[in-house]
Parts: sequence; C-alpha cells; structure tokens
Amino acid sequence: MLELARTVRLAITACTPQDTAATTVTITGLHVKDRGDARPSDPGGRFKPGLAGAAALGLGAIGEFEVVCRGEPDRTGYLIDITTIDRAVRSVFPPLVRDALRAEALTGTPFDAGELLRSGATAIRALLPAPLAALTYRASPFRSIGLDWRPTLSSLIPAMPSSTPALTILTETFEFAASHRLHLPELTDAENLATFGKCNNPNGHGHNYRIEVGVAVGDDAPMSFDAIGAIVDAEIMRRFDHKHLNLDCPEFATINPSVENIARVCHGLLVAPIAARGGALHFVRVWETEKTSCRYPA
Ligand code: NI
Repeated sequence: MLELARTVRLAITACTPQDTAATTVTITGLHVKDRGDARPSDPGGRFKPGLAGAAALGLGAIGEFEVVCRGEPDRTGYLIDITTIDRAVRSVFPPLVRDALRAEALTGTPFDAGELLRSGATAIRALLPAPLAALTYRASPFRSIGLDWRPTLSSLIPAMPSSTPALTILTETFEFAASHRLHLPELTDAENLATFGKCNNPNGHGHNYRIEVGVAVGDDAPMSFDAIGAIVDAEIMRRFDHKHLNLDCPEFATINPSVENIARVCHGLLVAPIAARGGALHFVRVWETEKTSCRYPA
C-alpha cells in the first residue's frame, strides 16, 4: 500500500466572464481562471503548469488542491495517472469555487470551505480509479483545510462515530521571534562549544520561528480558524514572542530550547485548550529556519 499525492493549482481572479453575462448576479463576476481546460490548441487539456500554476492576470489568487490516493500500483507502475487527477480537480472545483466566491461576495458571509470540499470530494471520487485518502484546499501557504479518510487519524477523536466519513483538518501557520542558547550545564564550556558550535554563544542568538498547527475537527462540531488563532495567541505568542527562551520562559528552564524541544513544548501547551474547544491537536511543526523544522508527534 502506498500513497500518491498530486497538487493542482488554480488561479482565481476577479473579472467579468462571458458565462455570467446572462445571469442576474449584480456584482462583478468572479471567475476561476483555469487554463487546464481543453482548448483547440491544447486538446488534451494537458496544461504544463509552472510553479504558480495557471497564470492569473493582475492580482489573481492562487489556490491549491492536493489529492492523495492510496493503493497498489498496477503493471504500469502507476497507482493513478496524474493527468486523471488534474482533469478531475479542474472539472470539479472551478465551478464550486466560483459559486462559493460569488455567494460570499453577495452575502458577506465566508463560505464553508469544509462543505465545499465535501461536495467536491463526492464528485472527485467518482472520477478517480484509486481510493481517495485525503483532499486538501490550500488557500495560501499559511492556511489550509483538508479532509482525511486515513484510518490512522480515527484515534484522534475517540468519541467520533466510526461512520463519520472523514476528519476535517484545519492547518494554520503563525510566526514569532525569540532568542535562545543551546547549552548543557553539566558539560564544560569547551564541551558545550564542541557540541553546539555557534548556537552556544553565551549571549544567545535569535530566530524567526514559524509554527504550523494542525487541528482535527469532527463535521458536527467544527472549530474555526479564529478559535485556533486565539488559542495559539494565548498559549504560544504571549509566552514566547520576543522573549529569550532560556531566560524568560520557565518551560525551558531545564531543557534546551532546540527546535525539537520547542515543537514538543508547544504541542503540550496547545493540546488541552484545543480539546476544550472540541478539536484534537493533530500535529505541531516548528521551523527554526527555512531549512530546519520539527514536526511533533511524528
Ligand atoms: Ni539557534
């Protein structure tokens, strides 16, 4: 059994599409621009995306859909042809997103991304020859909402009935700045320097940390991004932002503030408040630099 993940990027831009000319929508039409559609010059619809996906004109936003399928490859070595996934996403989601954005603009009420994903998943499933394990909508690099059917997640919310079709995972990334020093008092200065190098600098040094928080919620008791943000603000930002972790924070009085320990401590601080709001902390991932991060639990 293996998993194949495929990300499909859609550029969402506001313009006046021909297909709304005859409708009664009174706002400027919101149009999902997707060059993956079959066109005379591209009969297979095999758009070759750059890193940004289909190009949006002007200030179009890029949204990503990640599809994860599970199963065994056949004799071709493929679990699923990725162009099948691309076509499925591009046929199902543009009209759903377009309608959701129009409704949001008309009513001022944010659309329910979980509901959009659930209805999209039903349609996608019918188009894919391999079982769908997860489906995630990433609105930006810092916020995503996903559905996950993988059995390993079912233990996160024990009270959830096994008939629940999927867990919804809300993921958001925050950032804080802090100083730290890696040092073990039981070692000599020379041993500390040999072990930690410049991270042992006596007066510390700083990092711009990023922390990604993934929360599983049941469909019947959705927890909002706002609620997660408020908890992260209370438990993480107010404790650690613009602090010296060794000197200002009792959490690191006896343990080294390595990125591993920061991830573990942050998980410990968040798990109970999130549970109190009906969610289940799925994971915490902390980046010390762009190149170094730790996810807990693994
Ligand atoms: Ni450091």
